[in-house]
Amino acid sequence: VQARDVQVIEHGAVLELRLDRVDKKNAITGAMYRTMTAAMARPEHRVVLFSAAGDTFTAGNDIKDFLSMKDLVDAPAAQFIRALAQSTRPMVAAVSGPAIGIGGTLLLHCDLVYAAPSATIAMPFVDLGLVPEAGSSLLLPARVGYARASAMLLLGEVMGAQDALQCGLLNAIMPADELAAHAMQAAQRLARKPRAALMASRALMRQGQAALLAQMDAEQAAFTTALGGAEAREAFTAFLERRVPQFT
Ligand code: COA
Repeated sequence: VQARDVQVIEHGAVLELRLDRVDKKNAITGAMYRTMTAAMARPEHRVVLFSAAGDTFTAGNDIKDFLSMKDLVDAPAAQFIRALAQSTRPMVAAVSGPAIGIGGTLLLHCDLVYAAPSATIAMPFVDLGLVPEAGSSLLLPARVGYARASAMLLLGEVMGAQDALQCGLLNAIMPADELAAHAMQAAQRLARKPRAALMASRALMRQGQAALLAQMDAEQAAFTTALGGAEAREAFTAFLERRVPQFT
């Protein structure tokens, strides 16, 4: 499976999924989700590495796609989110520039996250008339505490790299020109570990998987309702028309 806009690159046992839709700030379309989900299902790799071309990790789900999306159950985005939550293989991310929406929530599923100083994380679902996805309503408060999670998920505040490092969303910040090599090195190190022990250890670290999947079901239902609502429609239309949304 290949699609424009996301590169699927094999480096031995490391599968790199590189977002490459630079003219749209790497906003993720249905085709891109499908490509990534299919690649992650292939049996031959041991570790997945998420990376991106250009100055933005990703501007999140493609907002034009959101306008035609009916639900978050059968959508390619939903399949991708499930693949993230159910992955038995370690996942590493190299983030530079903004990681917005799914760009931020996917990091919560990664085992190791490295960032350039330009990295920022934002989950502005409420501003788009939406609700959190990918289990972030459970994973983010658990990771960073309720106060910071509220600032991000309810106020839509952007978190800078230093704050993200301090509250445990990142492993390290490094100069932009060292990021790709460092993340790849970490992924290769994971790929060389004894496989059964690594996978079993990872599974032990992810106790609460049943609660996560149940929360994702609840999020999907709420997200689907929100998608069909007037608030989301106004937010999407306003973005595409480059104006400030008017919520009544
Ligand atoms: N979906 C679809 N297109 C998007 C997009 C998205 N999520 N984010 C950016 N783009 C497109 C813009 O429409 C623009 O396209 P155009 O050149 O054809 O007009 C292009 O990418 C560049 O974006 P622009 O807004 O002009 O760049 P910027 O540097 O001023 O701002 C962002 C970059 C990422 C801060 C801004 O685009 C943004 O806020 N995007 C939406 C983020 C978001 O809310 N995502 C959903 C999260 S759930």
